[in-house]
Amino acid sequence: MSAQNTNIYAHAAFVVIAGLLSLQACSKPAAAAPTAGEASIGAEHITAASAVDAGRYLVKIGGCNDCHTPGFAMTNGASPVEAEWLTGDAVGFSGPWGVSYPSNLRLAFQNMDEEQFIEMSRAGQGRPPMPWPSLKAMSDKDLKAIYAYIKSLGPKGEPAPAALSPGVAPDRPHIPFVPQMPVSKS
Ligand code: HEC
Repeated sequence: MSAQNTNIYAHAAFVVIAGLLSLQACSKPAAAAPTAGEASIGAEHITAASAVDAGRYLVKIGGCNDCHTPGFAMTNGASPVEAEWLTGDAVGFSGPWGVSYPSNLRLAFQNMDEEQFIEMSRAGQGRPPMPWPSLKAMSDKDLKAIYAYIKSLGPKGEPAPAALSPGVAPDRPHIPFVPQMPVSKS
């Protein structure tokens, strides 16, 4: 190899390396600094053996069964068995929003894909006392885990009754979410 050829090769190698470096610089733009409150969304998540296991854990600690599983809160979580979880409740919660019924998530998740569940959670719009702010605060990874778990349970039960608008009298049992004055002892 002549001295001139070596020079040409060295120059070509320099051009290729410089090109690669500039490509890398382009593909990694500086990340915008997260604003307060946004910093953890998408970063923090539960780790478990599988998405389904992570979702089961999140549903347990998220209190989802308290409202979406009949009998769960009343028995301090002793019943029903997991196969009956999240089938919704026909006992509503009444308040200024009308009457809301905890949805049958086992059926709702059959008609919703993962992306729709994430969108719904990010929007966080719905009637109380559903803890929408809790879903809104979860990372995509945790929401995907909840989705995978609830979907894995499969469909079961009947749809919960449709919500009632304010002023419409409920025709079935409901729990009033209205502050009560103490009964006077006089
Ligand atoms: C305090 C009671 C309560 C708890 C706890 C609760 N929910 Fe709900 N949830 C409701 C009620 C009531 C509705 C119906 C809201 C409405 O009518 O807008 C609902 C609706 C939903 C919906 C919308 C379903 C649809 O088809 O539109 C999803 C999804 C949901 N809940 C998921 C969860 C998850 C996941 C958890 C646990 C992290 C949870 N909920 C905990 C009461 C609750």
